[in-house]
Amino acid sequence: MAERPRDLVDDLCLRRDEAIRLGEKRARERQRPKGKLTARERIALLADPGSFLELDEFARHDGGPYGDGLVAGHITVDGRPVCVFAQDFSVFGGSLGEVSGAKVLKVMDLALRTGVPIVGINDGGGARIQEGVTSLAQYAELARRHTAASGVIPQISMILGPCAGGAVYAPALTDFTVLVDQLSHMVVTGPDVLRAATGEESTLDELGGGHTHATVSGAAHYLGADEPDAVDWVKTLLGFLPSNNRAVAPEYVDETAFEVTATDLELNRIVPDGANQAYDMTEVVTRIVDDGDLLPVHEGFAPNMICAFGRVAGRSVGVVANQPLVAAGAIDIDASEKAARFVRFCDAFEIPLLTFADVPGYLPGRDQERGGIIRRGAKLIYAYAEATVPKVTVVVRKAYGGGYAVMGSKHLGADVNLAWPTARIAVVGPEGAVQVLHRRELAALPGPERAARARELAARHHDSPYPAAERGYVDGVIEPARTRVEVTAALRALRGKRAQTPDRKHGNIPL
Ligand code: HXC
Repeated sequence: MAERPRDLVDDLCLRRDEAIRLGEKRARERQRPKGKLTARERIALLADPGSFLELDEFARHDGGPYGDGLVAGHITVDGRPVCVFAQDFSVFGGSLGEVSGAKVLKVMDLALRTGVPIVGINDGGGARIQEGVTSLAQYAELARRHTAASGVIPQISMILGPCAGGAVYAPALTDFTVLVDQLSHMVVTGPDVLRAATGEESTLDELGGGHTHATVSGAAHYLGADEPDAVDWVKTLLGFLPSNNRAVAPEYVDETAFEVTATDLELNRIVPDGANQAYDMTEVVTRIVDDGDLLPVHEGFAPNMICAFGRVAGRSVGVVANQPLVAAGAIDIDASEKAARFVRFCDAFEIPLLTFADVPGYLPGRDQERGGIIRRGAKLIYAYAEATVPKVTVVVRKAYGGGYAVMGSKHLGADVNLAWPTARIAVVGPEGAVQVLHRRELAALPGPERAARARELAARHHDSPYPAAERGYVDGVIEPARTRVEVTAALRALRGKRAQTPDRKHGNIPL
C-alpha cells in the first residue's frame, strides 16, 4: 500500500486529537475552579475503558465551537451498551440550542431504537438565550422523547452543576435523578428572580441544593458525596435493570441455600415484643436478599418507606417496605408518592415486587389531609393494583386499615402473601378500636380511671394473622426464619407469570 495516504490519515487524526485536547484543556480550566469534572471526564468515569464512541463531535452552530457545548455518544457499562449525553458547561454555559439539542434528540432516538438505557448528564444554563424559540423547541422535543421512552428504556439523569428554569423538567421526566452534595442545583426559579418576583429571601441551596432535593422535595433519588460516588451509584443501579422493557435484568448464579441458616434464625428475634417498639426494617430485608445487598432509592426522602433494589436467587427484585423507625412506618403523602413511582418503574421493567408490611396506616393530621393525602395516597394503591409483575408480600407486624390493603395485599393482586406469627392484621390498632367501640363506657368514667380502663380493654385485643389466613388472604403463617426460603420459592414459582392487561389507551392514575 502507498505510504502517502496513510501519512495523511495520521496527520488528520493527530489534528483532530489535538483539537479535542485543546478543548479539554479549556474545559478543565473552566470546570476545575468550580470543583467539577469536564463532560468527557464524566463520560469516561461512567464508561468501560475505551468504550466511548462519540457522535456529532463536529456538529456546530453558525461557525461556533465544534460539539456546540454537548458531548454525546454510546458507551458500555459493565459490558452492556448505554447511550449518554453530557452538557459541557465550558461552552455557552452548557446551554442547549438548535445543534446541541439536535444531538441530544439523536442520541435519545438511538437509545430508543436500540433498546438501551440513556444517561443524561446535566450541567448547564438551560435553553440557550441567544437562540430563542429554537432552543425552547428543542427542550420541548426532548420532553416528548423522555415521555416516549418512559417505561421502554431506563432513563437516568445526573445533575452535576446548575439545572435551572424550565430545563429542570427534562430530568424530572426521567426515572432516576442523581445529584451531588454542594455541586448540584436544580431550581425553577433562583433566589434573585424570586426576590424580584415575590420579595421572598432564600438561598440557592435552600431552594434547590442537593440536600433539599434528596430529603425534602424528592427530586433526587440519590445524593452523591462527589462525582465519582454519584457515577458509582448509577453504575450499580444499571446492574439491577434490564436494558429495556422487553429484556431481562442481568442474572447471577442462583446459590440460594434451601435450608434455614444461622442468619435466617436471627429473624425470629428481630421484631420486639411491644407493638409500638421500633426496629429497623432493613435488618429484616437484608437477611432475605442475596448477600444482604440492597440499593436504596430515595433513601433520604420519606424514610418511613423503604424502596430498594436487591436480588433474590440471583434475580433483581424491587423491595418496598415500611420503616417502623420513622413515624412508626405510617404512610404519608411523600411515602405514597415515592413508593408508587418505584412500583410503577418495577412493573414497567418486569422487576418482581417484594413487599414487607409493618404499617399502622396512613398518617393522620391536618397537614396531611390538606396536603392531599386522599388524592396522593391513592397513587400507591393504584400502582400496586395496576402492577402485573410477580408480587410477594410478607406481613411482619402491623397491617392496619388502609395500610393493610395498600401494602401488597392479596386484594390488590399480590400472588403470594406470607405473614409472621407477630403479624397484627386489623381495621385499626387496639387503642383506636377501644376508643370507637367503648366510647360511651369510657366517657362515663373519671379521667384517671378512663385511661386505665382503656388500657385494660386494649390489652384484650389480640390482632393476629389467623383470621386472614383462614380466608386465604394470607397463604401461610410462617416462622420468620423461613422467610428467605419461602420468598425465594415463591419468586421462582412466579417466574412464568402471565398477566392480562385491560384493553384501553391508558389508565388515569390520580396525580
Ligand atoms: C446562553 C448561557 C446561559 C443560557 C449561562 N450562559 N446560561 N448562555 N444561554 N441559558 C453562559 C453565560 O453567559 C456565561 O457565558 C457562561 O454560560 C457561564 O455562566 P455564568 O452565569 O457565568 O455561570 P454561573 O455563575 O455558574 O451561573 C450559572 C447559571 C446562570 C446559574 C446557569 O448562568 C444562569 O442563571 N443562567 C440562565 C438560566 C436560565 O434562566 N435558563 C433558561 C431556563 S428556561 P460567558 O461567555 O460569560 O462565559 C428553559 C426552558 C426549557 O430552559 C423548556 C422546557 C420545556
